[in-house]
Parts: sequence; C-alpha cells; structure tokens
Amino acid sequence: MSSATARAYPNIALVKYWGKRDESLMLPATGSLSMTLDAFPTTTTVEVLDRIPADADRPADSFRLNDEDASPAVLERTRRFLDVVRALAGDRRPAAVVSRNEGPTAAGLASSASGLAALALAASRAYGLALDAADLSRLARRGSGSAARSIVPGYALWHAGTDDAGSYAEHIEGPDLRLVIVTVHAGAKRVSSRVAMRRTRETSPYYDAWVRSTEQSLAEMVTACAAGDVERMGRITESNALRMHAAIAACEPPIRYLAPASVAVFDAAERLRAAGALAYATADAGPNVCILTTPADAERVASEVGALGTTRIVGPGPGAALVDVRTEPDALEVTA
Ligand code: PMV
Repeated sequence: MSSATARAYPNIALVKYWGKRDESLMLPATGSLSMTLDAFPTTTTVEVLDRIPADADRPADSFRLNDEDASPAVLERTRRFLDVVRALAGDRRPAAVVSRNEGPTAAGLASSASGLAALALAASRAYGLALDAADLSRLARRGSGSAARSIVPGYALWHAGTDDAGSYAEHIEGPDLRLVIVTVHAGAKRVSSRVAMRRTRETSPYYDAWVRSTEQSLAEMVTACAAGDVERMGRITESNALRMHAAIAACEPPIRYLAPASVAVFDAAERLRAAGALAYATADAGPNVCILTTPADAERVASEVGALGTTRIVGPGPGAALVDVRTEPDALEVTA
C-alpha cells in the first residue's frame, strides 16, 4: 500500500478562463492569468489499495470530503480523474481519497482549483509517478481547468495551447498585490461553470468577441505584470471580469451570476478609486467579488466594503506541495 498527501491553494483569475476548445482534454479557448492565494488550502491524501480489480470491473474508489462521504456526482468526477492518473501509471488499483478544505466554506471561493491541484499531486505520487510542475499542471487541468494554475505559486500564466502538451500554467513574476475577498452570499452556485461555459459558447452572441478580447487582455496583462504597472493590471482585471459576465448574461437561457450586492461591491471599488486607492473588482461564476488592491490600501478597501459582506484580505500563496509520502512497506519518505 502506498499513499501521498499534498496541499494546494485556490487561485483567482485576473484574466479569466471561460470556454473550452476541447471538452475531453479540457483545453481552454484562451489563456488566462491568476494569483494563487495564501489562504483556504485543500489537503488531500490518496492511498492506493492493494486490490486488483477483475478486468471487467471499474476500480472501486472512495472519497471522503470534510469528514463526509462525497456526493455521487463528486465521487464520479474524482474517479474519472483517477482513471487518467491510472492510465498514466499503468496501474489499475483503486484508491481511497480523503480531503479537507480549510477555512469557511462560506468564503465562497471555488474549491475545485485547490481540490484538483492537491488531488493531482497526491494521486500522481501515490501511483508512483514523479511529474515535474508543467506535467502536474497538465494533469490537474484534466480535473478542473482552473486547477492547472494552482500548481504554481503567486502569478500563474496558463498557456491555452492547442494540444495536451501545450496547455499548462507556469509561474511569472509580478508586483506584490492583495485581493480583498468579499463574500456577499455563501453557498453553491446556481449553474456550474462547466454547464455555463458550454452554454456561453453555444448560445451567446458575444462569445467570439469575448475570446478575441481576452486574447488581447491577456497579452496586455502579461506586459503590465512584468512592468509592475498595477494601475493597468487593475483596469484589465475589472474590464475582463465584466466582459465575461456580459457574455454569460447573453446566453439562451440567460445566466446572471452577479447579485445586487455584487454590483454594490463594484460600485464601492469605483468610489475607492475616486478617493485615490487602487481598487479594481473581479468576480468568478458566482456572486462573490474580489477587489485587487495594494498591501498599503488593503485595510481601507476591506473596511469600505465591510457592510456589503464578510471580507478577507489574501495575498500570493505557494504552489501545490507534498506534505507526506509513504511507500510500501509504510516507510516515511518525505515530510515537510
Ligand atoms: O475550471 P473551473 O470549472 O473552476 O472554471 C473556472 C472559471 C472561472 O473561475 C470563472 C474563471 C477562472 O479563470 O478561474
């Protein structure tokens, strides 16, 4: 029996990924750029069980998440991901997966990025694979697109690519910034990002314009990031988020992720800018909003939006890392 435990953190995209070129390989229509956070990690242990299933049987994996059995849909998604790892490793044994998301689930952060990044690292090691960061990013992408970026620390640039090899995230340097997470509504999103992305591509008349404008925004963001031009990074962050939500809102039937309270946070960012702070808002596929700001302005931003939701100031965090690896016969190989 061998097992590995890994930890990974969520990320927030400043230039978003929204739309796939290839659903089975999870190739995105465009590249994206995010910040891996220093809060709310997922820690996951994968234990490979010494049971070889009969040829016709599917390996019987199990998945406990925050001390409960995962729902059938989440278990199925995990098993499909483990099938990818097993195919790479040439190993048909099942696995027992135990995972914990830290921090309040009420933070409203998508846990799929940290979850699939931690699972990719833990599962690859437990099944005896030693992947470098780029290969881990490619693997994590197969579980959840945004997880490709949680493999690397700080700013992560995900190259869209046109095939499996070309589509991975790498770390890039950039200025020290903070995000103020404003949770206006806790709880699950109404339409999953997978379903909403497909509907946007298939029905939104603005989808092609979204793809073209994101390619341009990404190129500008990479330049601004390298130059430490925080004002320009902020402007691109907010306009890219609003363009994504506009393309989503134009779907048939329409999807609106932003709530009145979310819009109030965008208004607060505008007021803060008028008062001289660096404050630009962004939101993923849900009502919660993050404000990009400087370390110096972060407290002021958090107090301005304090009445609109619960706030948390976060900064750049580490990439996915192994916490513990045990190989047969239960020898401790790595601890961190
Ligand atoms: O990979 P998913 O299904 O978590 O999709 C991520 C979609 C957004 O969070 C809205 C944008 C992004 O780039 O993270």
